[in-house]
Amino acid sequence: MRDYLLVYINGKEHQLKGDQAFMRLSDFLRYDQGLTGTKVVCEEGDCGACTILRGSLNPDSDQLHYESINSCITFMSLLDCTHIISVEGLSENGSLNPIQQAMVENHGTQCGFCTPGFVCAMTEYVNHRVCQRGSAPEEQFLDAQQVRNALTGNLCRCTGYAPIINAGQAIDLQAFSTLQQRYDTPEMLAKLNDHQQMGVHLQSKNRIFYAPISFAQAAAFKASEDNCSVFSSATDLGVLINKGRAKPVVMTSLSHVPEAHEVKEQEGHVVVGARISLTHLENFCRSRIPEFSRLMRIFASPQIKNKGTLVGNIANGSPIADTLPFLFVAEAEIELTNSDGVERRVNINDFYTGYKQMDMAEDELISRVWIPIPGKSELMRLYKVSNRKDLDISTFTAAIRLKMDGQQIQSASVAYGGVGPNVIRLPKTEALLQGKTLAADVFQAAGEQARQEITPISDVRASADYRFQLAENILRKFYAELGETVEEVMSV
Ligand code: FES
Ligand code: FES
Repeated sequence: MRDYLLVYINGKEHQLKGDQAFMRLSDFLRYDQGLTGTKVVCEEGDCGACTILRGSLNPDSDQLHYESINSCITFMSLLDCTHIISVEGLSENGSLNPIQQAMVENHGTQCGFCTPGFVCAMTEYVNHRVCQRGSAPEEQFLDAQQVRNALTGNLCRCTGYAPIINAGQAIDLQAFSTLQQRYDTPEMLAKLNDHQQMGVHLQSKNRIFYAPISFAQAAAFKASEDNCSVFSSATDLGVLINKGRAKPVVMTSLSHVPEAHEVKEQEGHVVVGARISLTHLENFCRSRIPEFSRLMRIFASPQIKNKGTLVGNIANGSPIADTLPFLFVAEAEIELTNSDGVERRVNINDFYTGYKQMDMAEDELISRVWIPIPGKSELMRLYKVSNRKDLDISTFTAAIRLKMDGQQIQSASVAYGGVGPNVIRLPKTEALLQGKTLAADVFQAAGEQARQEITPISDVRASADYRFQLAENILRKFYAELGETVEEVMSV
């Protein structure tokens, strides 16, 4: 067990202890290292100004895996055994790299406050593209849609997006050397690998952080300490800390548990370890549960999804958590591991016992999620309603899943979020649909029934009336959008 963190910054090794080990990454870069290119605006993970690149060990490769993350909601303790590249680390031999050069030549910056974040986000996309070049070695430029996709987590208030997108399209991919080529030395990789095998126990004057190498050790620590916070990736907790609404003193993390980094297909399930990021899961589910993958594509920014985890979304227990309605209709099971290493599984429909209350003992924590893979002869649609398409908090969420027997609905599962203190199933609506055929009047009646089963409130995002209407309309929308899918499913 170590009492220090190992973190590389722009290729240079740092061993951190005491208060340094508990700093926010953006503060550490700016105030400790003098790397003031990283800017901070919203402190909520919403604007992307603080974007940097995090290189993590990758079990499937002998190179680091570089992803963009928001440094304002990232704490040093969660960066053990990683390599951080800030905007200062992107120049090549003292000159602008092709991405920075394209921003200059296309007038992609005015006040410049957002620019380092845009450059880092674009670098992640280009780096990934160039690393994957095997299938398209001749690719030279990105198209506008690719650039937009890369930049959904970045806001600019004064330049306007057209010049920034032009800059993205002007980047010469053939002139770009990958971050792995530039930074990944055998010495760095060996040291990170060695350190990752060891747990970490950090202590400052008033804070403790413990990241052991097994679920059971973390569960025992959680049970032994009052008010121990389990840090997943802190995409939500980090915002609360920045706003002064949370001050965790004792923390644990599963970041060094090898099994927490596994996602696999087993016994007809997708089994998701506690540390699997949403980006990783989105890619893994693309061919296995395409509708879930499609939903993940449209929520949150790349920077958030590269950090955030499915298990964090579940443990946070928000009634508008984007993944929960799907997990409810999929009958996913939450695997809990206790301090003796004993595992048990709870159906997610029975897991929440009240607002942010869960069926989980003091000495248990969530180790994995088991998601049954829906059959091909099923109809399933997932919905997120929000004020804007990308990077927004949901007003209302829904999952509708039908198992078909020929033309007839054999069974229906309907779950809504944002209509009460928890995500809920709608048993009366499900019963109304069961045994019916697919027809407009059936879904009209189901929508009217759904209204009767929810208790929404008015809040900053929407009125209760609006949510009642959404509850009704989403079932009509489901039917209206079935179209060719019905014929495809019927022919299976
Ligand atoms: Fe806005 Fe970090 S400062 S996302
Ligand atoms: Fe000023 Fe983007 S250049 S906010």
